[in-house]
Amino acid sequence: MSLFLLSLAVLLCCSSARPSSHNRTENQIPGEGRPGQVRSAAIKRLLEVFGMEDPPSIHGHMQPPQYMLDLYHTVADVNGVTKEPDLLEGNTVRSFFDKLRSDRVEFRFNLSTVSRSEKILIAELHLFKLRPQSSLILNRHHFCQVSVYQLLDGGKTNSTPVHKLLSSRLVPVHSSGWEVFKITKAVSSWMVDEGNNIGLQVVIQTLGGIAMDKKLVRFASGRNHHHTKQPMMVVFTDDGRRPASQKSSEGSVKPGKKTSLPQLPSSSTQLSRSARSLDSSEEGVVSTHCQLHPLHVDFEEIGWSGWIVSPKGYNAYHCKGQCPFPLGQNTIATNHATVQSIINALKLVEGIEMPCCVPDELFSISLLFFDEDENVVLKQYNDMVAGSCGCH
Ligand SMILES: *[C@@H]1O[C@H](CO)[C@@H](O)[C@H](O)[C@H]1NC(C)=O
Ligand SMILES: *[C@@H]1O[C@H](CO)[C@@H](O)[C@H](O)[C@H]1NC(C)=O
Repeated sequence: MSLFLLSLAVLLCCSSARPSSHNRTENQIPGEGRPGQVRSAAIKRLLEVFGMEDPPSIHGHMQPPQYMLDLYHTVADVNGVTKEPDLLEGNTVRSFFDKLRSDRVEFRFNLSTVSRSEKILIAELHLFKLRPQSSLILNRHHFCQVSVYQLLDGGKTNSTPVHKLLSSRLVPVHSSGWEVFKITKAVSSWMVDEGNNIGLQVVIQTLGGIAMDKKLVRFASGRNHHHTKQPMMVVFTDDGRRPASQKSSEGSVKPGKKTSLPQLPSSSTQLSRSARSLDSSEEGVVSTHCQLHPLHVDFEEIGWSGWIVSPKGYNAYHCKGQCPFPLGQNTIATNHATVQSIINALKLVEGIEMPCCVPDELFSISLLFFDEDENVVLKQYNDMVAGSCGCH
């Protein structure tokens, strides 16, 4: 528990090092207030880091769609660290299940969990095509035309909805598996006006333009088929949150370009070698110089394991150690820090501390979680893992 609070304190300390408009909660945390109060203030602040007001309440055990799990494992390593920042379009992927659960190939998705500030980049309709019923295997059709239409209100005079074609494709009649259709235009229009969202309709025709036998070409529905085959909408968005390091880039590190991941100091030969060379006069003494140390953040300990699917926790690392004069060549130091360390060492000015040991390079993590509407979301969070330390 104390380790947990320490971890939180370090996390919060790091995030408050930057200019922030959230002044109130930060001022509450460092005090010796009652532990319960400190904990709830800390959790609230941590939720803000993850862009949420309240933790989603999840009822019962749910299975995330395989597509989202696969996507997560493509973009993140086992510790949740983003493998390649530019792999994803935007920084958020949301999956939605169909609310209509109709027997006909009609769907409706509720977009209320998407924030107004999120930019829609790509939206897709994922449908699972079932095999034709066996008695109909011998059929002269090899392909069918599958078209996805957006339903539009026909207006006062016309009560039947107008169809607007979004996407159309030839699909082999005997195939089975996921078919993906682009529906970006429809989702963008639903975001502008929620009232526009009256659904999607899928029309299946022969190449000659005649309605296809419904037993021959079938798509799984949310009502009659296994949950792993449910119709699903996947939306790639960007919430506009950029790495802070990009805003105030000093040109020394290029965030977003690096793909190398942080290494534990104990397993990093480079770091331990530099530590040894610094302490060469005192054999066997552990270096107290500024360096990277592990810091495990456990979502189960925080009480978030109910809604976070992956990872179960991650190593945020932290920077600890002294920055005394002379700042060795192995320590990444700013000119300002060098001058400060000299002033400190020579005691030229009263009350000047040693420079601080802080992260130099930060990496993002990816989280797979259930939102309050029980949709599965994959989101990337910038500046979550310390990659290297320096004296600043
Ligand atoms: C932040 O906190 C300080 C110290 O309590 C206070 O002087 C300042 O006005 C606060 N700033 C904002 C924006 O609330
Ligand atoms: C969408 O979901 C929200 C929250 O779950 C609900 O309040 C709203 O009525 C839903 N909208 C539609 C059109 O069903």
